[in-house]
Amino acid sequence: MPRLSFKGGVPLKGEVRASGAKNAALPLLAATIMMSGKSSFTNIPQLEDIRIMIQMLNSLDIHSEYTENNQLTIRNTNKVRHIAPYEFVTAMRASFFVAGPILAKTGFAKIPLPGGCLIGKRPVDIHIDGFKALGASVKLEHGFVRLSASQLIGTTISLPFPSVGATENIMMAACLAKGTTTLKNAAQEPEIDDLIRLLTLAGAKINGAGTSTLIIEGVSHLTAVTDYTVIADRIEVGTLLIASAITAGDITVTNVCPNHIQSLLNVLEDCGCKLTTTPNSVRCCGPKTIAPVHIKTEPFPGFPTDMQAQLMALLTIANGTSTIEEAIFENRFMHVPELNRMGANINILDGIASINGVAELSGAEVKITDLRAGAALILAGLAAKNTTTVHGLKHLYRGYDQLPQKLASLGACITV
Ligand code: EPZ
Repeated sequence: MPRLSFKGGVPLKGEVRASGAKNAALPLLAATIMMSGKSSFTNIPQLEDIRIMIQMLNSLDIHSEYTENNQLTIRNTNKVRHIAPYEFVTAMRASFFVAGPILAKTGFAKIPLPGGCLIGKRPVDIHIDGFKALGASVKLEHGFVRLSASQLIGTTISLPFPSVGATENIMMAACLAKGTTTLKNAAQEPEIDDLIRLLTLAGAKINGAGTSTLIIEGVSHLTAVTDYTVIADRIEVGTLLIASAITAGDITVTNVCPNHIQSLLNVLEDCGCKLTTTPNSVRCCGPKTIAPVHIKTEPFPGFPTDMQAQLMALLTIANGTSTIEEAIFENRFMHVPELNRMGANINILDGIASINGVAELSGAEVKITDLRAGAALILAGLAAKNTTTVHGLKHLYRGYDQLPQKLASLGACITV
């Protein structure tokens, strides 16, 4: 099993470019199921999850491949299969994003129900209720959901929770419905705006981007879009900025949209970091002493749950006690036992982690359980004295494009 060994204690310095956003690219690729013709994308990150989505599209007879100049081309000849293979949906729950597009395009979809994962049960009831509201008939049997509708009909849908995936799935289905759909309490993450941008270029009529109410006027068809550039990965940007903060370094991250991570920038400033932003970069100088903070994860524009583990790593060496409340997922503290094995002092009570800052962490052999926990353990290792060995890298490579290489280019003692 691949693992990573490195020595901590080195202030990271230099400039690094963020890759494209995994959580934008996945729904963008799912949307091509509805877009006839040949689409092409740039800035798609090289990740395991993207490879799974490409395999999914190919299994649906949507031919996807990388060209030599690292563009991803998608050829949709309007012969879309409507059954999503089990192995892809169980390998990556975001494959469930193909449900809305297949249903809207073909009138029928048979999709395996994604299982939960370590961070939580992660049901898809909000997605399914949205499809029902649009007039689809729904049957749950043998671990699959069968959706059918000769014609989806626009309506008003109020989401019980601003679910990112449900907002994307229902919005995509509504694009080809008859009539107008008003989607209330919609999620507002930047990845949703990126999807709205692509769908609009493909001929969709969507108003309300950046707000919690989306108004989608159904159209008869969507067409291919060429040379579409995916937004930068705000979570990778945040992870790299924390690498600077935790090593008292000086890192500039480029290809960034600062207002996509404003809540994190505010917290890093509260921790004592010195930040300098331009329209497409952020420079972070880490402080000698990290100030404790108190945060709760929330839907955008609140503090993102995908940055919770990485911030916790930073707070393990703060000068005082911090608290983090994880309010989005029910079990997203798996990094805590491993951080404590590195000398951190973290206690959890009623979904709130109290992080009592320690003077220093010590390197250890640690195991990655999920994507963001993995990033947190690497960040802790960068600050720890002596060597850390991280096992379970497959989780990391699902969502970070060349992270060890990027850290090594900033001076980390990582042999990749
Ligand atoms: C997206 O997951 C992201 N994944 C997650 O990133 C991210 O953590 C999450 O949004 C929250 O920002 C992708 O975009 C591929 P949700 P998603 O639906 O859409 C509950 C990462 O590390 N819920 O907003 O699955 C759910 O259980 C990943 O990159 C229902 O109850 O998140 C959770 O508690 C992890 N029923 C909460 O809502 C539903 O039908 C938020 O989930 C759907 C969700």
